[in-house]
Amino acid sequence: MPTKKPSLPGEGTQQQRLEWFRQARFGMFIHWGLYSQLGRHEWVMNRERIPVSEYEPLADTWKPARGCARKWAKLAKEAGQRYMVLTTKHHEGFCLFNSELTDYCATKRGPGRDLVAEYVEAARAEGLRVGFYYSLADWRHPDGVACARGEKARRRFVDYIHGQIRELLTNYGTIDILWYDLSWPLDAEGWESVKMNEMALSLQPGIIINNRNQLPGDFGTPEGHIAPEAGGRMWEACMTFNDAWGYTPIDTNYKSAWNVISMLRQCAAGGGNLLLNIGPTAEGAVPAPCPRILRQVGAWLGQYGPSVYEAADSMPQEWSILGAFTRKGDTLYFHCNRYPGDELAIGGLVCDVKSARLMGGPKLKVSQVRDRVVVSGLPAQAPDPLDTVIELRVSGDVRQVLGAGCELLKGDPWRKTEK
Ligand code: GLC
Repeated sequence: MPTKKPSLPGEGTQQQRLEWFRQARFGMFIHWGLYSQLGRHEWVMNRERIPVSEYEPLADTWKPARGCARKWAKLAKEAGQRYMVLTTKHHEGFCLFNSELTDYCATKRGPGRDLVAEYVEAARAEGLRVGFYYSLADWRHPDGVACARGEKARRRFVDYIHGQIRELLTNYGTIDILWYDLSWPLDAEGWESVKMNEMALSLQPGIIINNRNQLPGDFGTPEGHIAPEAGGRMWEACMTFNDAWGYTPIDTNYKSAWNVISMLRQCAAGGGNLLLNIGPTAEGAVPAPCPRILRQVGAWLGQYGPSVYEAADSMPQEWSILGAFTRKGDTLYFHCNRYPGDELAIGGLVCDVKSARLMGGPKLKVSQVRDRVVVSGLPAQAPDPLDTVIELRVSGDVRQVLGAGCELLKGDPWRKTEK
């Protein structure tokens, strides 16, 4: 059988490279850099117009604690996350890795260590996949703005950026994700993005690449919202835990375990992933209440994991105040983010419901009159207040269609085959 030609150089087809990612579902994003010392958002240099001369000394005062990456990786594991993505260089320009191309890097300044090497080692020790976030934009590099105004500066800057990506993908063994960010101020041609991706794939044949160097790459990156991509293309929603990415102690608006599970369920329902951020302190401590919340999510995943990790077959569905469906083939998981009490009624299911049970628990009584399904015999109190999952075995056309009317659907096209 002829095999599909890969669209870019690399190992296998794009679908093969993406396979582990599709099943990973949940990752930890880590925003950490010089800005973590100021604690006023990772854009502080830009938002407060801090001149380079004033910002740069932060490179010498940064003394992160040893072993913090190990703690993040352990926490990610406990949370049920299967990969991590670290900001190896944010827009501020400071490199957390050792670079031959600049002295503005962790090994040569305050930290005196390769923070990226520590992170890679920590993630691998927990069996997690490793992602590198790398901002193309650079507020400190003298050509970071000039590159848009003249060819000489562009050439120098693009060589610098490509050179650093080469370092990142050469010096740390197998890297699973290349996560570009902020492609200001050039376009794809200016960044030589095609060449950039070709280089990445030639150095790391199994790597997957996001879409932020102005090429589609392997997956989309909706930010701050959950939105499936068209045509079954892979996507990953990146979300803050509070409202900032970098450490910002005045921002205490953290999502609860309930919120995180709800986001995870929405991503799973749409066949995408959730990359949930933490913004550690300059020392590397993960702000309370994130560890507690992540552990709650992990405990929930320990029980209901298959309804999230493996349930990537989406289905057309309607909104509900109670929750939503994820699906794996003929198994539907109804996630009760709000628990209905001893009876659950669901309208608009076109398929036939054969049986129902509490996921991992006893069978439930189910009755169906056309497209009105009633599951009864549920415990009065939610078995899991975060999200109780009810598993339905179904057959037929798996769709939920309600429209705006109230009549039981009768004589509808999907019932034509009914005897
Ligand atoms: C935005 C923010 C940036 C953050 C990124 C994460 O681009 O500007 O600070 O790193 O989102 O997706």
